[in-house]
Amino acid sequence: MMSRPPGPATPTRILSGIQPSGPLHLGNYFGMIRPSVALQTQGEAFYFVADLHALTTVRAPADLRRWSRDVALDLLAAGLDTARAVLFRQSDVPDVATLAWILSTVTPLGLLERAHAFKDKVARGLPASHGLLAYPVLMAADILLYDADLVPVGRDQTQHVELTRDLAAKLNEAYGPVVKLPRASILDEVAVVPGTDGQKMSKSYGNTIELGLAGDALRRRVMAIVTDSASVADPKDPSGSTIVTLYRLIASEAEVRQMEEEFRAGGVGYSRFKTRLFEALEAYFAPFRARRDALARDPAAVDRLLRNGAQQARAVAAQTTARVRRAIGLD
Ligand code: ADP
Ligand code: TRP
Repeated sequence: MMSRPPGPATPTRILSGIQPSGPLHLGNYFGMIRPSVALQTQGEAFYFVADLHALTTVRAPADLRRWSRDVALDLLAAGLDTARAVLFRQSDVPDVATLAWILSTVTPLGLLERAHAFKDKVARGLPASHGLLAYPVLMAADILLYDADLVPVGRDQTQHVELTRDLAAKLNEAYGPVVKLPRASILDEVAVVPGTDGQKMSKSYGNTIELGLAGDALRRRVMAIVTDSASVADPKDPSGSTIVTLYRLIASEAEVRQMEEEFRAGGVGYSRFKTRLFEALEAYFAPFRARRDALARDPAAVDRLLRNGAQQARAVAAQTTARVRRAIGLD
């Protein structure tokens, strides 16, 4: 009898990954990290450092090493609890490459050529390598290898998760029910965190506020937020304001309402609002920074956690791999 993916009686599997392709920023934190950490109590969670994906853009080995460790530190400092969630590096589970290859044999080329992320990256001048084109197939393998139900990500990843569902359906069509169809978990309020220029905050747009910033460096980035030309006295529109949108991510409802009212009333300049946002960010991230500094002082402990996570991840991956290999005739 063909073995099947786990049924509805099993706990929800939650999985997400983040690329170590540079220092993380507030968009990554609010869009992916905070929601992922919040979900770790809701089922079996798997979170990983997507180092194989990062190879599509990172060329310097020293950068890849440093950023991989930094992402692990950021996840842990943000509250990822390795007693509840499995934390690992993608490349420590080689089965993912096998599954990606198998999936690629049922992947229509047109689906990949139409992917927004691929088109954007090529439009920005990245060479259209096979890795860049096949990026979503590897991501599908990440998700399907761990039988994930829920994938917490920012809105820009929706298409990739949809593509994963398409590829899962194609594999199941060809070979019977071998993999589980996942869905994205996207929180509306953090789906698109704006950067200092008001566009989506992204490493590629140079508009980020990095997670590690504090003090004057953080103040300078917050002061760089672009505003309209309203004078101090003018009433201001809070609805499309980057300052208010970012403040809403960390302030209480009453504090946000207060800021919105002061926007509308006029008499307070943008720089005063930015200072309030800066102070709120500084306070919100103080415990994060303290935990991160403490963890960074013990790299051997972080390595141990990653090794241990990899072992757990490999055990789960081996089950899916065995199921898939049998279903398709490799075993
Ligand atoms: P970047 O655009 O800076 O390269 P990534 O694509 O590496 O960021 O994103 C990593 C994770 O963070 C993904 O889950 C993504 O959806 C989320 N994310 C990135 N930027 C934002 C943003 N501005 N708003 C919401 N989520 C974001
Ligand atoms: N593509 C994701 C990003 O750019 C990272 C990623 C790789 C991922 N594999 C994943 C996210 C699997 C969720 C699930 O952010």
